[in-house]
Amino acid sequence: MAPSEAVEAEALQSVCLAAADVFAGVGLSSAAGWNQTTDDWALFIAQGEAIGLRTARSELVATAATLPYEGGHAWISMVLVDPAWQHRGLATRLLAQCIESLRARRMVPTLDATPAGEAVYRKLGFLRGFGFSRWERDAAASTAAEAVDPRVREATQDELADCMALDTQACGLGRAALLASLAGRQGSRAWRLDDARGLATGFVIAREGRRAAQIGPLVAAGDAQAIGLLRAALAATPGPVFIDVPDAREALSGWLIAHGFRLQRSFMRMALRAQLPPYLAEAPSSLFAVAGPEFG
Ligand SMILES: CC(C)(COP(=O)(O)OP(=O)(O)OC[C@H]1O[C@@H](n2cnc3c(N)ncnc32)[C@H](O)[C@@H]1OP(=O)(O)O)[C@@H](O)C(=O)NCCC(=O)NCCS
Repeated sequence: MAPSEAVEAEALQSVCLAAADVFAGVGLSSAAGWNQTTDDWALFIAQGEAIGLRTARSELVATAATLPYEGGHAWISMVLVDPAWQHRGLATRLLAQCIESLRARRMVPTLDATPAGEAVYRKLGFLRGFGFSRWERDAAASTAAEAVDPRVREATQDELADCMALDTQACGLGRAALLASLAGRQGSRAWRLDDARGLATGFVIAREGRRAAQIGPLVAAGDAQAIGLLRAALAATPGPVFIDVPDAREALSGWLIAHGFRLQRSFMRMALRAQLPPYLAEAPSSLFAVAGPEFG
């Protein structure tokens, strides 16, 4: 880094983002080709803590956000640096701030990294957990009729509340408030699959994204049940779709390829701990799609 660049980076102002910064945040995530909407940024600002770096002309050039979950984990996301400002230590600086704030609250920093992010996080001591892949299908490929399993039914917000324990079992994160908020958005829909006694055995949520609808989390007892839930979500989602599937779910990945999906990018779950618990090291068997790398 040239000395003048270091001085410029040093002069950036650290800020806590507020509701008025939602559009600047979307500007940065959109420039990186990401899928987050104004609702997502508003959620990070309202339920978590979003921080950034601003130039003297008040341009937002870097961001990071933390979202606390029950049970001791907090999700770090939206680590974005304007391309003109990259490789000057800005992501590292914002992450250090996030980590300090989470450690002060005794929360474990956890995240899903892109390959570029992974390089930054590994240097900071994050350990690598399971990998997952984003699959995408465009609108043109989505016209084929999907046969929907009649045992899968659309769930109201109240009916989805019964599924929160399944989510926690599937990913180890206590985030009922987050999922209620995702499912409660305009344009979101959810489905569940019950056993013979009427108890939920799996569920899926679909929500709107900037580039494509996001399907996830998808939690189910097995491959057939997961595919049944996914068919219902896809049948109701005519446009482009993104879904983030653990690499260990090979049957579902094969099904996606056979149904017109293509691989977009890979992610790595990571946490700043001395040793990863099993649910971060390996994708638990009932986790078929994560909520999205910004939420885990
Ligand atoms: C990833 C990103 C946030 C890094 O921001 P940054 O401010 O340039 O990162 P830093 O300067 O703090 O980098 C620290 C170190 O991480 C490593 N690193 C950073 N970006 C890297 C990349 N694209 N590829 C490989 N290593 C990288 C390097 O070792 C770097 O040190 P160096 O610049 O001295 O070589 C930025 O490239 C970005 O916004 N990318 C697009 C969005 C994204 O992928 N975000 C991560 C989400 S998990």
